[in-house]
Amino acid sequence: MAHTYTAAIIGCGRMAGSIDDEVRGSSSVVFPYSHAGTYQACPRTGLVAASDVLEDKLHAFCQRWEIPNPYTNFRELIDREQPDVVSVTTRPGSHREIVVYAAEHGVKAIWCEKPLCCSMAEADAMVDACERHNVRFNLGVNRRYSSVYREVRRLVAEGIVGEQRTVIGYCAGSALWSHTHASDLLLLLAGDRNVDYVQGTVGADEADFADNHVDVDPSVDSAYVRFSGGIHGYLLATLGYEWEVTGTTGKLRMLNDGQALELRRHGGAGKQLEVVPPPPFERTSSALNCLTNLVDALDTGGGTQGNVQLARRSQELIMGVIASHGLQGARVALPLANRDLYVGKRDW
Ligand SMILES: NC(=O)c1ccc[n+]([C@@H]2O[C@H](COP(=O)([O-])OP(=O)(O)OC[C@H]3O[C@@H](n4cnc5c(N)ncnc54)[C@H](O)[C@@H]3O)[C@@H](O)[C@H]2O)c1
Repeated sequence: MAHTYTAAIIGCGRMAGSIDDEVRGSSSVVFPYSHAGTYQACPRTGLVAASDVLEDKLHAFCQRWEIPNPYTNFRELIDREQPDVVSVTTRPGSHREIVVYAAEHGVKAIWCEKPLCCSMAEADAMVDACERHNVRFNLGVNRRYSSVYREVRRLVAEGIVGEQRTVIGYCAGSALWSHTHASDLLLLLAGDRNVDYVQGTVGADEADFADNHVDVDPSVDSAYVRFSGGIHGYLLATLGYEWEVTGTTGKLRMLNDGQALELRRHGGAGKQLEVVPPPPFERTSSALNCLTNLVDALDTGGGTQGNVQLARRSQELIMGVIASHGLQGARVALPLANRDLYVGKRDW
């Protein structure tokens, strides 16, 4: 019989356990979505402990998900329970502290929610701790594990739109809380190519940058990402959550957050594009795919799809966009030189 990995959740809020209740009627989500629901659905993991600083919340969470060992101190949980897998589902201000402690105290795999953290200096510390201790890591950027977006990436790599030229994300949202999803998807759909530089406009004032600590999570109005090989990436603040990859012979659109694909290709004459039925695809739970991928990596000692280096890169892309706005929209080369630029709201 296959080994069962012990798991623990740190931070017993929405993403840990109640988000499925919030989005129950949504057609864009394939359940399970919450971390607790996903551990329950995964035959290879068992939840043994949870931690929250709020005692009432912790006990209600443990009762709902039948978790035997509640802790108000996450360090005690890790030291005593020595879980194989830990979910970090607190808000981003505490991610660095929890991930570094877990990595340094025997946890083998970490599923950390986005945004990774609040500065590149924090991201560097997390990468360093995970790599030094050989910890498997997946960031909670769900679409990276989505069967739809991974299939699109495969089709694009096979040349379904010819030679790739652009990736465009039509979606509005705040830079860290929301657009760490978008920056990761931009990377995924550009084949995780290196980024040469970024430029952006966000909803922050010059004064917000005064002490290198932006205490709002600004909206992203527009972002330009120059990938190596000359591929252009754009984030445009518009209605909905839709994506488009274009190439020399066609366009592939992902409609309504990946619920449908639309493929159009050159039919021959002129610049006319003709609709071609896209290959069929299956939609599965991205959260369960993410956890299964971590478990597989523990089994085999292999890598993960959303590893800590990629997590740092998607964080860096969006931090670069914010930094560019602070420099009146100047090009900002990556890796970002300003490792101490901190973006975080007071209640993070
Ligand atoms: N992947 C997604 O689609 C998705 C969706 C929603 C939220 N998120 C992410 O999940 C994270 C949590 O967001 P949320 O909306 O669930 O927040 P939340 O406020 O509902 O929950 C966070 C919980 O962490 C607890 N906490 C704070 N400090 C702690 C500590 N030191 N030790 C233990 N517990 C502590 C809080 O008391 C709270 O119960 C955020 O990073 C957010 O961006 C991801």
